[in-house]
Amino acid sequence: MRQIVTTSTGGIEAMKVEQRPDPVANPGEVIVRVRAAGLNFADILARQGLYPDAPPTPCVMGYEISGVVEELGEGVNSDFAGKSVVALTRFGGQSELVAVKATQMFGKPEGLTFEQAAAIPVNYLTAYALLVVMGSLHEGESVLIHNAGGGVGLAALDIAKKVGALSFGTASPGKHKFLKERGLDHPIDYRTQDWQPILRELTDNRGVDLIIDPIGGKHWRKSYASLRHTGRLGMFGVSTASATGIKGKINLLKVAIQTPWFHPFALLSKNRGVFGLNLGHLWHEPEKVAVWMRDILRGVEEDWVRPYVDRPFSFDEVGEAHKYLEERKNIGKVVLIP
Ligand SMILES: NC(=O)c1ccc[n+]([C@@H]2O[C@H](COP(=O)([O-])OP(=O)(O)OC[C@H]3O[C@@H](n4cnc5c(N)ncnc54)[C@H](OP(=O)(O)O)[C@@H]3O)[C@@H](O)[C@H]2O)c1
Repeated sequence: MRQIVTTSTGGIEAMKVEQRPDPVANPGEVIVRVRAAGLNFADILARQGLYPDAPPTPCVMGYEISGVVEELGEGVNSDFAGKSVVALTRFGGQSELVAVKATQMFGKPEGLTFEQAAAIPVNYLTAYALLVVMGSLHEGESVLIHNAGGGVGLAALDIAKKVGALSFGTASPGKHKFLKERGLDHPIDYRTQDWQPILRELTDNRGVDLIIDPIGGKHWRKSYASLRHTGRLGMFGVSTASATGIKGKINLLKVAIQTPWFHPFALLSKNRGVFGLNLGHLWHEPEKVAVWMRDILRGVEEDWVRPYVDRPFSFDEVGEAHKYLEERKNIGKVVLIP
């Protein structure tokens, strides 16, 4: 089978498609023939050597796939044979064939293409955990979604609309028209101007009830300062560090130095909450994640979950796909096709 291998840390030339032996299904696993694999920002950071969770190189990244079950391991319900599925993979998803634990696999909604289905797991589970589970967003509240035009951003917008919250979103200006059409109430250009005074003006100086921030470092301080009383800040990424080579390492050091501390007394007196999320550290909680995923898949039937694929790239174009995300060209998800 063919796999996308991150051969070393560095530029996009480090990404290669290589032939590897087919995987074997262990007890409780199935082998899925992949039809589409999600590309995530974490894959870019891994290639840049800035993602501590990534396996050592050479490695095969990929947290999510859609495809067809080709083989069943011992103890797996035979109903799964030949089924179209969507699954979470603990790396290795960017392959023609992948071994997946049956507990991390779900039926693919019939109305979705394989490309759309592969756009669901990481983006929607992350957004669901941030907005519904930990952020406890309620009808009538307000939310600021940073990078609203990205994969997690669009998923968060779908959920905010379902909840009935007022939505603010930062994004590159070229994405605003699309975001308005998707239902974002207030797109804010954060590339050519400071988003903070604009948000203040739009909220009568009050701030918002929930902010989800994947940028990191000193940006978290700014987001924290923009919360309304009883507001919550969800921190879930450090995309500000993104860069190849020594620049990336320096950026990461800056993130570490500039990250704010939140004192309990300050939280108490301002009625604020802060939390962090790392979906990749929830592998030991499959039951919890499965409950969220079932709700999300129900959302597909109910039409409030609308996975949006910007464009597919073939496995051979993986370098171009990385570049597309790094250059902020994507709206929504980028998927890789074997
Ligand atoms: N903790 C978790 O469990 C978890 C799970 C999933 C994702 N994440 C994090 O969430 C963020 C979004 O992930 P995603 O996969 O959905 O990616 P994405 O948002 O689809 O793609 C990247 C987008 O982020 C924006 N961006 C902001 N700073 C950037 C930078 N320095 N370089 C390049 N792009 C930058 C760009 O959009 P605009 O310029 O238009 O804003 C770009 O299009 C990432 O930080 C990722 O690591 C965390």
